[in-house]
Amino acid sequence: MKRNIAVFASGRGSNFIALAKEAQRGRLKGANLALLVCDNPNAPVISAANKLKIKTLLVNPAVFPNKKAFEDAILRHLKENKIGLIVLAGFMRILSARFVKLYKNRIMNIHPSLLPAFKGAHAIKDAFGYGIKITGVTVHFVDDKMDHGPIILQREVAVLESETVDSLEEKIHKVEHNIYPEAVNLFIKGRLKVKGRKVLITTH
Ligand code: GRF
Repeated sequence: MKRNIAVFASGRGSNFIALAKEAQRGRLKGANLALLVCDNPNAPVISAANKLKIKTLLVNPAVFPNKKAFEDAILRHLKENKIGLIVLAGFMRILSARFVKLYKNRIMNIHPSLLPAFKGAHAIKDAFGYGIKITGVTVHFVDDKMDHGPIILQREVAVLESETVDSLEEKIHKVEHNIYPEAVNLFIKGRLKVKGRKVLITTH
């Protein structure tokens, strides 16, 4: 049986699109990208999902009395859609410890730096401004701290002397669009074993 995936996104959605295209090309074998969860009514990712004919749940936090009610609405839909893996792709919200516990080691995030360096929402700019010579991309499981859980995959990106923040951003996104489907595939094949902070990648 195929494992249903939900992608959570708040903005542009280039990682969502990359994952959806991989799925449509049949390169996420054993997975079904069943749902986009979006918390921002103005996010371009919503029209991308429409074009790709992927079901969208728009949950605007402004219409809920508190975070628990907001998360409960999401959880209900995840259950209804039998979601087995949550993939955060530019989701600009911290999930509560309660939520993370319910999907322990079944929530992934992608971050545009080599964690633990440059956590937070402006990682590419921060790394560039720091004068870093090598940065990269991290895919990790989510725990209850921001940009912190066990690391699944990391890939480095060199910062050339001629680099601008825009060119670096472009390079990093390209790497993201390859590494995220790769991590999802490893998960679907049951090849990720979490031992404390370490994620072991098994051979089959
Ligand atoms: C990506 O750089 C990702 O690493 C970060 O948020 C950005 C989302 O970009 N968590 P997009 O919306 O997928 O284009």
